[in-house]
Formats: sequence, structure tokens, C-alpha cells
Amino acid sequence: MNEITLLTEADDRARRYTEPIPGRRVFPDQGALPALAAFNEPLPARGYAAEDVLRLLDDIGSPGTVASNGPRFVIGASLSAAAAAERLMLAWDQCASSFDNSPVAATLERVAAGWVLDALDLPRESAVGFGTSATACTLSCLAAARRVLLARKGRDFDNDGLAGAPEVKVMVSELVHITVKKALRLLGFGMNKILYTPVNHHGQVDLERLPPLDDMTILCLQAGEVNTGEFDPFDLLIPQAKDAGAWVHVDAAFGLWARASSHAELTKGIEAADSWTTDVHKWLNIPYDCAMAICRDSEALAAAMQRCGLFEWRERCAEEPDTRISAKDSRHTCVGHVALVRT
Ligand SMILES: Cc1ncc(COP(=O)(O)O)c(C=O)c1O
Repeated sequence: MNEITLLTEADDRARRYTEPIPGRRVFPDQGALPALAAFNEPLPARGYAAEDVLRLLDDIGSPGTVASNGPRFVIGASLSAAAAAERLMLAWDQCASSFDNSPVAATLERVAAGWVLDALDLPRESAVGFGTSATACTLSCLAAARRVLLARKGRDFDNDGLAGAPEVKVMVSELVHITVKKALRLLGFGMNKILYTPVNHHGQVDLERLPPLDDMTILCLQAGEVNTGEFDPFDLLIPQAKDAGAWVHVDAAFGLWARASSHAELTKGIEAADSWTTDVHKWLNIPYDCAMAICRDSEALAAAMQRCGLFEWRERCAEEPDTRISAKDSRHTCVGHVALVRT
């Protein structure tokens, strides 16, 4: 089967899969699960024909999917425009790591980044990094935060690392999302070292019981607690944290999009934070996986996640000072690459 025929066959199967999805139960029928055993075979000595692989995937795999691309799933299906664009993206198969690797990807990310900052009314000078998950984007923002706090104390994190460095403390809500803790653990903060700040009966960080903050603290707040939907009182907490010199990060996987809705008041004051994480595969209903790391200090995020040295990075910025630029050197990082938005 030639490539075009094979792709047409795949597309036919995808359409046959998608059409009944609105009426399908979300978790696969129990009867479909034993059939998944068909995939358990030793690595074949010879590959199967491509059309046979496609048939196996569809006949056995499709009934074993969770219908996350349907309206009954917790966050709903991909929008058809996004799903259609994704089909084209597969054909493009871009390495979206730099302008030189994919001019169109760099251009689209830059434009999307600017639109997102406008829609969410966040500082227009922010860097926006597109990553695979809120977890990865939070990790990127917290890496940037730690690097900045250490630099303020004269510590060169990139070259001297953490051994013997001044301690950076992390304070999170008692109701912090588990993935923020995962990001902190991966960054080496240590679960026993995390400081928890109490919440009130709504589940919001309680201003009255907020432990003392200082200029070596990262305070993680939350927009849209996963069980209650609650938002921390950003307008009260962030000014206090900033006065103390702390870095404020907001896990807004769900909640940031309230800013673009009639419930924008829930996010009042959130724009004063230093960094924000949000998922795009949630409220915007695009296919998995996409999330964003947004950082007010664009250079902090770019420098923390870039591949090239800071010196080289500064030189590149100097070369392209005035426009919206996507950093030219590739950044193979967990946050994908960073679209720097210059206004
Ligand atoms: C509040 C909150 N933060 C973080 C995450 C993690 O998102 P992701 O699965 O994209 O890493 C979620 C996911 O549901 C969430 O609800």
C-alpha cells in the first residue's frame, strides 16, 4: 500500500472512530479489555505490513480507548478546528525547536503567544513556552524562579549548581496539585523541605495564616483547585509576597482561562505574579498534549531552559532587539521552546 493510500485508510478509520464517540461510554467496555492481550507478543523477527498494523490498532486498540475525545469526558473533546489542524500538523511533521528548523512553527508560536497574553491580559513582555503538560511547564517556571533567586544572591546556578548554594524555600498551599509537588521533587527541592501554607474553609490560601516570606522563597498559588474549583485571593497574597521579595508562581492549569470569561474577577490580581502555568488541552479543547509556561521575566525562562549559554543568548537578543522574536537557537527542553514576545 503506498503512503497516500495508507494515510487515506488511516483517515477513514479515524473518521469511523470519531463519528459514534458522542454516544459512547467513556471507559472502554469491559469486553474490549481482554482483547488488548493481542498486542503482547515478542518483538517480531519481521515487521507486519503497514495496513495490518493499522487494522490491528483500530480493531483491537480503538475499542480499548477512553473516549476522551467525546463530550462526556471530564474536559470534553478536541474542537474540530483544532483536531483538523492537528491532522495537517502530522503531515508537516515539523521539528519545532527553532526558526531554522521550522519557520512556520516558530511564526505560529510567536503569534499564538502574543494572542494568549492579550486574551489573558498578562504582562505583554512575558515569555511563553509551549510544553507537553502543566507538570512540565510548572517545572520550567520553577527552574527559572530558583535560578533567578539564586542569582540575586550572587550564585551562578548554571556553572556552580546547587551544592553549597543558599537555600531556596518553596511554599505551597495545603491543597497544592500533586503535579506541582512532582515538579518540585524532580527539581530536587525535597518533599520534606516543602512548606505548606494553611487554607481557609473555602480551600483558599489563608492570608491570616500565611507563614513569613522572604526573598529566597517561591510561593506557589493556585487558580482552579482541582476538587473545589477554588481560586486563591491573588490580589491580597501577591502584593504581600512581592513586598517580601518572593517569587510567585501560579498553577493555573484550569483557572487562568477564567480571565477570558465573564468570571474574570476570580483571577483578580493574578497578573502581578511572576510566572503562570496553564493547560491548553483543558479549556481550549485542543488535542493532547499542550500546556504553556508563561514568565513575566522573559529572559529568566529562556535562559533557564535554553541549550546555548547565557552569553550567546544575550548576543542573539541584541541581534534581534525590536520585534517579536522566537529565540533562534534550539531549546530541546521539557517546555519545548520559548517564544519570546517583545512588544
Ligand atoms: C490544578 C492542576 N494543576 C496541574 C495539573 C496537571 O496538568 P497536566 O496533566 O497537564 O500535567 C492539573 C491536571 O488536571 C490540574 O488540575
